[in-house]
Amino acid sequence: MISPKMQEAFNAHVTEELFSANLYLAMSAYCESRAHKGFGRWLRVQYQEELAHAAKFVDQLLARGGQVAVGAVAAPPKDFGSILQVFEAVLAHERKVTESLNRFYALAEAEKDSASHVFLQWFVTEQVEEEANVSEIVDKLKIVGDKSSAALYLDKEYGKRGK
Ligand SMILES: [Fe+2]
Ligand SMILES: [Fe+2]
Repeated sequence: MISPKMQEAFNAHVTEELFSANLYLAMSAYCESRAHKGFGRWLRVQYQEELAHAAKFVDQLLARGGQVAVGAVAAPPKDFGSILQVFEAVLAHERKVTESLNRFYALAEAEKDSASHVFLQWFVTEQVEEEANVSEIVDKLKIVGDKSSAALYLDKEYGKRGK
């Protein structure tokens, strides 16, 4: 059975994943409304991944005999600036999620909760991938700058995600 401390950390993390999901849904709509359907599509897939992450934490909590308490999720912003600023904000957000996961991982170690330790490893690896993918988009958008034809090419390329 999971400890109360770990249960609290799991529930807090469910809310965090749901916030990530809502943030990316809002960003996805924002990109689409600004003629960047491809990045909108990319972020919509990201939204679905974050929802799946939240569900994974819920499932693990249930499997360990914990009590699920889904918390209130704060509203994401509506305006995100330029497309480059959107992805800079995604990168900053993912870095925050990584920090929070690292604290969660350290807690599992401190609590000698080896099941959570193993479970969280998947997420640690996932964060490395997420940060690398988003870093790449930010770098490419910086290279492209205000060359609109190159930006539209990138938008088309990233729109292929999940198809
Ligand atoms: Fe996530
Ligand atoms: Fe993420």
